[in-house]
Amino acid sequence: MSDPLPNGTFPPNFLWGSATAAAQIEGAAHEDGKLDSIWDVFSRVPGAVANGDTPEVAVDHYHRMPEDVALMKQLGLGSYRFSTSWARVKPADGAVNRAGLAFYSRLVDELLENDILPWLTLYHWDLPQAVQQTGGWADRDTAYRFRDYATAVHDVLGDRVTHWTTFNEPFCSSLISYAAGEHAPGLQDPAKALAAVHHQHLGHGLATAALRDLGAQQIGITLNLTTAIPNDPNDPVDLEAARRIDGLWNRMFLDPIVVGEYPADLLEDVAGLGLAEVIRPGDMEIIHQPTDFLGVNYYHDDCVSGHPVERHGVSPTERHYASPFVGSEYVSFPARDLPHTAMGWEVNPDGLRALLVRLTLQYPDLPPLYVTENGASYEDVVSADGRVHDPDRETYIGEHIRAVAEAIAEGADVRGYFLWSLLDNFEWAWGFDKRFGIVHVDYETQVRTIKDSGLAYAAIIAGALSAAP
Ligand code: FCB
Repeated sequence: MSDPLPNGTFPPNFLWGSATAAAQIEGAAHEDGKLDSIWDVFSRVPGAVANGDTPEVAVDHYHRMPEDVALMKQLGLGSYRFSTSWARVKPADGAVNRAGLAFYSRLVDELLENDILPWLTLYHWDLPQAVQQTGGWADRDTAYRFRDYATAVHDVLGDRVTHWTTFNEPFCSSLISYAAGEHAPGLQDPAKALAAVHHQHLGHGLATAALRDLGAQQIGITLNLTTAIPNDPNDPVDLEAARRIDGLWNRMFLDPIVVGEYPADLLEDVAGLGLAEVIRPGDMEIIHQPTDFLGVNYYHDDCVSGHPVERHGVSPTERHYASPFVGSEYVSFPARDLPHTAMGWEVNPDGLRALLVRLTLQYPDLPPLYVTENGASYEDVVSADGRVHDPDRETYIGEHIRAVAEAIAEGADVRGYFLWSLLDNFEWAWGFDKRFGIVHVDYETQVRTIKDSGLAYAAIIAGALSAAP
């Protein structure tokens, strides 16, 4: 574990939390009126998810919610970032499912009784299959349906929930889902992917305006951002690849929301692929709503090159994200001399500092920042002593929190940090193969064990709270 943080490193109201997502933890996939989401359907496609795993049971949070909130309390969390499942709230894309909303109402009450701030995300990728059947995010109307779903959630929870996030990582629920085909609904259609980008932006704007009218206090969005590092910083081909990837991964999502327009170079890069075709007059004004925070999810930087993939020998998965949009360019995880997690992602805490500072410098109208996800997967086991010793994750957490402190010292207005994830869970296409939790879950028995990293995170939180000026 790295050295303790100096007193006063974090502002007094800095929020310490942990995050999950409905489809990854809830289970009860077909209970109390919930119907299939696209992830339920996708996970039944042979080969789509590792080991044929599904979110059907996940970690049974739906039935173990009070026990899980007690764990949060034990860890000293100030906030819990969770998502509501659209497929539970409006399962058939029509009537509101009261029983589904009642679950979230009980969760919110349980959190508040334990002095834990509920941080609600409306869309963490689990579109109702019924909405997919009408075209999903490739269809403009889905943005309006999303607004209606958002108001249905607010109708029931708005008296107690103050913090609302519209989307989690629209990059993943557009490009990875509609172009790379690796996430539900598993399409490989670049034009639909770009339409999905724009329609999710539109959904964000429509829902933000509607929630604002209804009196929501804090509204924002969470983006997963990266730093595109040219493989060879002296090679103009790699520098150009870095510019294009930065446009496609970061600025295509940041700029419409924070600035109110798509970057000109990005529009040029994807000309003829379908983005300009779906933008209608007035859309950018709807999308460019004032927001109260920007959530930043950070896991790693991405080393990019414009040279043909064969020259570097990266695996096909890594080039798929970008290949429909950037020709022969590819994206890889850096071959830099850094440690890697079980996902193969490099451990580079300074990348988080650099990203937060870059956002601060580049976007004058940036709202306050929260790191809404950061964490690591390792191959954890319960030891003979009944504990889970995960020193690598402990180090990862300590170093990334230090990086946030450094960014704050350099002027970034970061107001909170949410660790991904509270519990080991259904890691999308990786199924249950990858464990990100600070609490270990035995998937046979559903027994929860706080890992050493969870205890370390609890100590960091307690230390920061007692040291706050
Ligand atoms: C993010 C997702 C989250 C989880 C982590 C590891 O992209 O938002 O659900 O899968 O990665």
